[in-house]
Amino acid sequence: MGSSSSSPADGPTQLEDKYYPEWIKNPENIKDLTGKVALITGVSTSSGLGFYATKALALKGAQCVITVRNVEKGEAVKADLEAKLQEDGVKPKIAVMKMDNCDFASIRSFTDEFKKQYDRLDIVCNNAGVMGLDVQMTKDGYDIQIQTNHLSHFLMTARLWPLMKATAEKYGDVTITQVSSGASHKGGPTVDTANLNNPHPSHGFLLYLAPFVLGGSTGHWARYGQSKLANVLFAQELQRRIAAVGLQDKMKLGQRTECSQAWLPPIYRSPRRRAVA
Ligand SMILES: NC(=O)c1ccc[n+]([C@@H]2O[C@H](COP(=O)([O-])OP(=O)(O)OC[C@H]3O[C@@H](n4cnc5c(N)ncnc54)[C@H](OP(=O)(O)O)[C@@H]3O)[C@@H](O)[C@H]2O)c1
Repeated sequence: MGSSSSSPADGPTQLEDKYYPEWIKNPENIKDLTGKVALITGVSTSSGLGFYATKALALKGAQCVITVRNVEKGEAVKADLEAKLQEDGVKPKIAVMKMDNCDFASIRSFTDEFKKQYDRLDIVCNNAGVMGLDVQMTKDGYDIQIQTNHLSHFLMTARLWPLMKATAEKYGDVTITQVSSGASHKGGPTVDTANLNNPHPSHGFLLYLAPFVLGGSTGHWARYGQSKLANVLFAQELQRRIAAVGLQDKMKLGQRTECSQAWLPPIYRSPRRRAVA
């Protein structure tokens, strides 16, 4: 993942060896998804969390749409997934679509195109992300971390919400997952909406100090923590709105804060209480 730090020791590839084979064998963990449409953002590598989420969903028969900013990279991942799943005797259904999380116009074009091509949306995995980067303003005027990790997912989900709601009403069993991070715990007591581009040091003070200690520039981790806390808060607010329209039995929210579980797609994990405060 785009990052100012090195990869974690226990990264997704090792996680696949450690957990995936046993987990995927258990039919209790993920049921048949034939006929369902799944959308997974940010699947441009064959080692990331999005790759394994897509692999698990496609293995169970879902039509998977993966989004990437570089279509060539997406097509390479698709070919890799097809080759790996065909070894298991599965002919996966995977489509690649362009969506750049640094550009709201791209989110709008993608959602318009998605609605033209698909008449249902059962599973959303908001996975695309960048981590610990220097301040970089997007053309929309936001810091790259908050826009990539949260704002674009918010916009995409909002524009696809009517389709998800209609799917839930017709078929039930819609799942929306935010791939957050343990860094959300250090993101502050809440998201500083007045200061999205440069959160105050009191939000995740230790994270704010980390770049100084490690010799970097300012606020990489405070901004990352805020963006990942925003994922959690978004999941909580969606949960509230789902209940408000009486769909709590037909739509589930997930948010993953730990890398070891992030690629397990549709399992609900209780959001932290303090995030609601
Ligand atoms: N790895 C960890 O330790 C860890 C821990 C906790 C949570 N997470 C979360 O897990 C998620 C996946 O990360 P990963 O570790 O699996 O890394 P990854 O394989 O690099 O996945 C990140 C994906 O996001 C995409 N992306 C970045 N900027 C984008 C943009 N502007 N538009 C569209 N796509 C964009 C990347 O595509 P490009 O190739 O185009 O950059 C890449 O496909 C992230 O949300 C991350 O915060 C990771």
